[in-house]
Amino acid sequence: MNETPLVGILMGSDNDYEIMKETAVALKHFGIPFEMTVSSAHRTPERTANFVRGAQERGIKVLIAGAGAAAHLAGVVAAETTLPVIAVPIDATALNGMDALLAMVQMPAGIPVATMAIGKAGARNAGIFTAQLLAVDDVELSKKLVQFKADMAAGVEAKAAALDKRLAQDFS
Ligand code: RP5
Repeated sequence: MNETPLVGILMGSDNDYEIMKETAVALKHFGIPFEMTVSSAHRTPERTANFVRGAQERGIKVLIAGAGAAAHLAGVVAAETTLPVIAVPIDATALNGMDALLAMVQMPAGIPVATMAIGKAGARNAGIFTAQLLAVDDVELSKKLVQFKADMAAGVEAKAAALDKRLAQDFS
């Protein structure tokens, strides 16, 4: 993206990309420029710290960290910044993401991270939640969120109508 990124997305492994792509999809939907990289709390601690320490100066407003296993990435990111940090637990191990969820959600007092649901839904919500944070002082973005909710509601109405038709065909 050509515009200056407002959001920094980190993921612990390139294997997390298929999940974290959902965050990018949501940000793109709302026209929010982002940067995305692979950086691990455990394998590349210096790279992670450097990425986060320079974030505010680069114009980043929100950081999003997706990781699986013993997922310390979001906490390590939050330790290095006063920017809001959103965590996405990824189902990368035999524990199906419960390990990452608990590591992310059970932060000690003083270092909060906003933890989303495990997997794709959480990654998508990380993007939407970021839009909501940025919309606090952005009227145009706020309008896009109103439209987004209206479109979602219209989608459910359409599905309910389709189900009514199907029930009429199948059971009357
Ligand atoms: C975490 O360990 C990553 O976020 C990833 O979800 C998990 C496994 O990483 P790989 O071994 O697949 O690179 O650091």
